[in-house]
Amino acid sequence: MSILFASQGFGANAWQPAIEAAAGDRPIAVDGIDAYDPETIRYALVWQPPRERLAALPNLEAIFNLGAGVDALLADPTLPDVPIVRIVDPNMTMRMTEWVVLQVLMHHRHALGYLHQQQQRDWRDLPQPPAAVVRVGIMGLGALGADAASALARLGFQVAGWSRTAKSDLEIETFVGAGALDAFLGRTDILVVLLPLTRDTHGLLNRELFAKLAQDGALGGPFLINAGRGRLQVEADIVAALDNGTLKGVSLDVFETEPLPAASPLWTRPDVIVTPHVAADSSPDAICRNIFQQIAAYERGEGLKNVVDRGLGY
Ligand code: NDP
Ligand code: OXD
Repeated sequence: MSILFASQGFGANAWQPAIEAAAGDRPIAVDGIDAYDPETIRYALVWQPPRERLAALPNLEAIFNLGAGVDALLADPTLPDVPIVRIVDPNMTMRMTEWVVLQVLMHHRHALGYLHQQQQRDWRDLPQPPAAVVRVGIMGLGALGADAASALARLGFQVAGWSRTAKSDLEIETFVGAGALDAFLGRTDILVVLLPLTRDTHGLLNRELFAKLAQDGALGGPFLINAGRGRLQVEADIVAALDNGTLKGVSLDVFETEPLPAASPLWTRPDVIVTPHVAADSSPDAICRNIFQQIAAYERGEGLKNVVDRGLGY
């Protein structure tokens, strides 16, 4: 035995065939289904594994997270001190960029307004500014944010981004760190959030932040699009900001509690688009190929890529 698949979030039915196809002749154990000797496990492939499960593997060499965000994994205080590798893969990046572009265009091209008009048989055009006068601001310029930024820039939007450290390789305006946040928000009509959930970003998307977005933009008010993590946002503040006009519309793929509770007002608002944490719904085959290529490289003595910085939390 050398590989353990341990997941409470992703079902074995969808992932086991992909893991087996990518693993070749390496034996795989599925936690909770197969019996295995913990001493034989060298690598764990996980998505929200049961707490303390990885601490019971004395010979574990690396943890491969089956997604990009590691907040749930790092919440386990017993996590063994081995490298945690997160997913950076073109399959995931492209899917997230599709979702972000879709949501930006939904708001830019009044998709919700026209859907409502269609239901009323109301043939009427809404004022349509060109992309060139609409300012998109992307929070998080990592693997996902940088790609979404470049796709939106190609569509002609005025794109800027905000990150913790400076970027010199992106062809967009960039803002760095907490000191530049207000200036970034003040020039933003559509705020796209692709940040990880860390102690610094928890609850960042709140009423104070929404009030700093541009209110004078060509779309008549600012929009929020979040596919990072639900606990970046304060949902009561989003609802209040929509009610008082501080926000004009919202697209959310992630929520404080998932699945989004049936009682949430977000489900039924005409100014909110809800998707069920599927923005970068990636192919298990592509993700597993990526991981087993990394394992092969690691066993050839090459370093692991995309290793999480536990101190930073991403
Ligand atoms: P990366 O680690 O590549 O990028 C994270 C970005 O956030 C970096 O630019 C980083 O700055 C920035 N950042 C982190 N902390 C701060 C901070 N305190 N202030 C300013 N900027 C900060 O992650 P990915 O792009 O791969 O993924 C981003 C997140 O998207 C994931 O963590 C996950 O939560 C979410 N996600 C959601 C999915 C979905 O389906 N909804 C699917 C996949 C991911 P710097 O570059 O300076 O380090
Ligand atoms: C991820 C996710 O982090 O799907 O990969 O949310």
